[in-house]
Amino acid sequence: MLLKQVMIEEIHKLVHEHLSVEDVSGLIEKPKVEKHGDFAFPCFALAKLLRKSPQDIAKQIANQISHSSFSHVQAVGPYVNVFINRKHGSQAVLTDILKQGPDYGKQSIGEGKKIVLDFSSPNIAKPFSMGHLRSTVIGQSLALIVEKIGYTSVKINHLGDWGTQFGKLIHAYKIWGDEGTVRENPIEELLKLYVKFHEEAESHPELEDEGRAWFKKLEDGDGEAIQLWKWFREESLKEFQKIYHLLGVEFDSFNGEAFYNDKMDDTIKLLKNQSLLTESDGAEVVSLDDYDLPPSLIKKRDGATLYTTRDLTAAIYRQQHYQFEQAIYVVGHEQSLHFKQLFLVLKKMGYSWADHMHHVPFGFILKDGKKMSTRKGKVVLLDEVIKEAIELAKQNIEDKNPNLGNKEEVAQQVGVGAVIFHDLKNDRLNNVEFSLEDMLRFEGNTGPYVQYTHARAQSILSKTSASPKINFGLEDDESWQVVKLLHQFSEAVLKSYNTYEPSVIAKYLIDLSQAFNKYYGKVKILSEDEYLEDRLALVNSTGVVIKEGLRLLGISAPENM
Ligand code: ARG
Repeated sequence: MLLKQVMIEEIHKLVHEHLSVEDVSGLIEKPKVEKHGDFAFPCFALAKLLRKSPQDIAKQIANQISHSSFSHVQAVGPYVNVFINRKHGSQAVLTDILKQGPDYGKQSIGEGKKIVLDFSSPNIAKPFSMGHLRSTVIGQSLALIVEKIGYTSVKINHLGDWGTQFGKLIHAYKIWGDEGTVRENPIEELLKLYVKFHEEAESHPELEDEGRAWFKKLEDGDGEAIQLWKWFREESLKEFQKIYHLLGVEFDSFNGEAFYNDKMDDTIKLLKNQSLLTESDGAEVVSLDDYDLPPSLIKKRDGATLYTTRDLTAAIYRQQHYQFEQAIYVVGHEQSLHFKQLFLVLKKMGYSWADHMHHVPFGFILKDGKKMSTRKGKVVLLDEVIKEAIELAKQNIEDKNPNLGNKEEVAQQVGVGAVIFHDLKNDRLNNVEFSLEDMLRFEGNTGPYVQYTHARAQSILSKTSASPKINFGLEDDESWQVVKLLHQFSEAVLKSYNTYEPSVIAKYLIDLSQAFNKYYGKVKILSEDEYLEDRLALVNSTGVVIKEGLRLLGISAPENM
């Protein structure tokens, strides 16, 4: 049983007339100073209810509590401080981990329910941007986290594969394009055409009309337009797949914006039937005046649909198709207004499930303090970046561990892990400064550091013929720090879910790695005394939890590096 659970139950027994289990659980704190115990229960709330002094209540509770799991209980001012019996505590925690292995920390909150995650979602014929990288790694991690707590995840890549820009691109290709060069380097060449179109359009505005005309053809199903569009889409997807493959990300659906073309009429009909559409300058909009927000644009003057129309249709389709309990959109914070409007329009349409849709925003990736831009030819080719990280990781291995067997595989795991961890260790709303050197450091808050700690644990275990086993439990300070952190794993998982923050797990892994490395520095783990097997149990458990935590971030843990 969770150590905190014991504390909750024991306190609740004494105060059940006044506080619920949830109340007690919510009040329990972790004292900031180690010598104040492992848990503290503040008595202010009870004091108010009972009109007594919190100091007196603390004394009373401390006197009445006793449990084999506690070594002692002390009233300090208005707090009841509890010290866990370390031998019992470490026995309980380590037994749990050894028994459950990678299932440790698993929860059943989401059982039988689905969460749809919309993430990555790059735009075809354009480079995969740093923003899409962030969306991809955050989304992937959130999918793994919601599965850990029992949900079924549905991972959707809502490709940006529709819109007026494709009319422009088709037109540009027809004037300046060359099939061979596009085949060779699709994304770069298509981007060049797109950029050229905009440059030329400045002095030849008629180009815009021709672009629009091609988009109209595309929408009307013109053979040539469709054929070119399909080709651009396929070539782009091939490039994107390379990145997904490197990152180890898979999707359940690539239904992008174009998928909703034949479904938008129904959405517009629904809006009309509910008299939600109003005209504004010839366009059709849903007013959001009652929320003090600008109206949501559904249909342009020329009859063309928009990003929002497709998102609206997609949401309704997904609810019908998957019956999701929650829908999560991992998209940069610059689209916050769009999602606010989207959810409100759905609400106005009477869909109660609109309350369970969440935009999970994130900040920019910066280079030298500036936003990394993919426009104006300043293309950052993402697979190049990842390959460079892998190359650097390989050099590191050559320096540190030249005899390693599966260098290529490990270099890939470390390089990719470094890129992902560097992103996920920050609160997602913060901007991230992009620096390969920082990502790949073996010391400090990096992916390689955590991976290295895991490999260290494996290496210790391989150096002895003894096996991990709990005989007595451990009680020295260094072990106890590690045990307490191991114990907090499921709390970290839950918190990362509740806040949609993979960074909670990343930070947790850094704390655990630091505590373990401190332990490793202080304690002779392999010395042949009667606690050897217990210490191996601690080492083994740490390895299990680090590996599982990394997995939840979408990062592998090599056995050896
Ligand atoms: N393709 C969009 C972009 O790159 C992101 C799409 C996000 N998902 C959505 N359902 N709107 O900005």
